[in-house]
Amino acid sequence: MAIGKIPLIWLLGLALAFGVAAAAPAQASSSSSSSRVSRHYDFFIREANYTRLCREKTILTVNGEFPGPTIFARNGDVVFVNVYNQGDKNITIHWHGVDQPRNPWSDGPAYITQCPIQPGSKFTYRIILSEEEGTLWWHAHSDFDRATVHGAIVIHPKRGTAYPFRKPDKEIPIILGEWWHRDVGQLLGEALSTGSDFEPSDANTINGQPGDLFPCSSDSAFRLPVEHGKTYMLRIINAALTTEFFFAIAGHRLTVVGTDAAYIKPFTVDHLFIAPGQTKTVLLKADRGVGHRSNDTYRYYMAARPYATNPIARFDNSTATAVLEYVDAPPAIATPPVMPFLPAINDSAAAEAYSVRLRSLASDEHPVDVPRHVDHRMLITIAVNEIPCAPGDLCKGPRNNRVAASLNNVSFEMPSTAILGAYYRSVLGGVAKPDFPDKPRVEFNYTSDDLPLRFTARDTRVKVLEYGAVVEVVFQDTAILGTESHPMHLHGYSFYVVGRGLGNFDKHKDPATYNLVDPPYQNTVSVPKAGWAAIRFRAANPGVWFMHCHFERHMVWGMETVFIVKNGKAREAKMMPPPPNMPRLLGRADGVWGEGRGRAMVLAHPLRTHRRAGPCASGASRELGRQGDFPSVHGCKAPMLSPGEAKGLGEGAVAPCNKMLDLVDWSAGDHQQVGSALPQSSRRSTPPSGTARRLTASSQ
Ligand code: C2O
Ligand code: CU
Repeated sequence: MAIGKIPLIWLLGLALAFGVAAAAPAQASSSSSSSRVSRHYDFFIREANYTRLCREKTILTVNGEFPGPTIFARNGDVVFVNVYNQGDKNITIHWHGVDQPRNPWSDGPAYITQCPIQPGSKFTYRIILSEEEGTLWWHAHSDFDRATVHGAIVIHPKRGTAYPFRKPDKEIPIILGEWWHRDVGQLLGEALSTGSDFEPSDANTINGQPGDLFPCSSDSAFRLPVEHGKTYMLRIINAALTTEFFFAIAGHRLTVVGTDAAYIKPFTVDHLFIAPGQTKTVLLKADRGVGHRSNDTYRYYMAARPYATNPIARFDNSTATAVLEYVDAPPAIATPPVMPFLPAINDSAAAEAYSVRLRSLASDEHPVDVPRHVDHRMLITIAVNEIPCAPGDLCKGPRNNRVAASLNNVSFEMPSTAILGAYYRSVLGGVAKPDFPDKPRVEFNYTSDDLPLRFTARDTRVKVLEYGAVVEVVFQDTAILGTESHPMHLHGYSFYVVGRGLGNFDKHKDPATYNLVDPPYQNTVSVPKAGWAAIRFRAANPGVWFMHCHFERHMVWGMETVFIVKNGKAREAKMMPPPPNMPRLLGRADGVWGEGRGRAMVLAHPLRTHRRAGPCASGASRELGRQGDFPSVHGCKAPMLSPGEAKGLGEGAVAPCNKMLDLVDWSAGDHQQVGSALPQSSRRSTPPSGTARRLTASSQ
């Protein structure tokens, strides 16, 4: 099987990937061709040691940074991000809130639009900005990696255009998150193996720091230096896996000017509400300091307190803080900062009072285009449920079952083959069923306290939409295992939130209350606890688009589905072809199958899913390292394709992400590996001398 050859080629691939990478430090460069400006970033996924709450721990990072680097762009730019996976587990990255017109290939959710990027591999994401302007963010979209692999995307107005308000003196990303003492991958593995709820985080964080209400944290708390009279733009991002937040700054009011990547009619609040996935662009006028008002001081807390609505879910109720510090007039005596007022942890009225204030700017420069006529209506119930414990299993969920979650009582089963690739190759049938229901199978009193439909079942059911159809989705919370608010996020689109309310949606009465004039334009809507929210969008972005609750635990329990939007007739209404470097998308576009000379064969490359001691993903086995195969191999090894499966892979085939498959071109004489995980250039049968040199250098 010429195993001896393989490591050499792998090394060559690595040398290429990382040799080039090492020469190009992690920074942005930009170039302008045609009308679009393109920008380039290098993201190295790697482990780094961080100390929080008095303990050191290894976390996954981008470029060693936590939170990760900020991407800067202007409206309409294209951003290329080379992601080099130097970590020891599979990963993908998602550009949250970027519509990616016609380009689902770079969207990122694992097993939806791509197979994960394996350790030692690279994937270049092409992030096509269109109408987005304001604050967005990027994050890992595999397992629980998002906990530490996330950062801001700042999209400035096009050159020659301006903000619809006075330009602030300074802009600062404020990223809300969480910190666990333990390894998040391990927590995920444990929770999934027992079907139990997740352990709550040990602290909430602002820009990666819990703040000085926590042990060993005051010196490192995030500090925002300000000068009296200046205006600061805070780009607030909720990157937390499990927590919605109230956010406030003592002594200051906040003027909200944008949400997700769209401007809104400015309104001023003492505190704001932000759900995971959402962003708020906020102006802060530094009008205090010392000697300006009677109760002035020079330090004020900014604080994030959880909003938690499900009384039966465990959660971390701690408040994260940072310090706003006037640096132009430091007083002689240091005084402790003042704490802001924040609503109580379960104050649903406060959360809702904030959400109903969001209205699009709807100006001449920033118009709205709210669809009035609806082609396709869906009512989607949101629920946390149970799946009966399998005989012989040890389940630690409710009533000794497994905890699960569902939309219209379908608990989404993540496939092992990326749906996008299967759909593109017209072999969707083996991967997903195109019959996600438009409404719940039975109507019931969704928000009352009885428990119908306590059980759900796993299935991969997706919704197929005609190109250009106007879709209205009403998300309806249910009381099945407790009412709860849910941040529902759609990939590939922003949508208008045309209505929201408490109780059960009434299709006869509630549409009369819709705002079709200036509804907010968002990518993540907070569906109120025991209530509903209605969104509208025109399905004019062909592709495969994930839709899910942005609470990570609900997502892994199945609270999601996929919208497949068909191609339209015109050329600009069709999906782009896949890029040449899609991880493990096999077929002609990959250049691998060539003229039909290639043959599939199976090699035993390890594919690891969870790090360290956690259980392996289903079907994978625990393996010890084998030298010369892949660097420092120990972890979970995916099963190999059976000879039958491998034979079944003809031209245009789509391989499952979790099976080991590499292609060997027998006609090349020396069993040259041409696996798709390798950089394109290493697929030649004779390496050019330059790369050979690099190979020598890297193997010494
Ligand atoms: Cu912010 Cu599917 O993600
Ligand atoms: Cu949820």
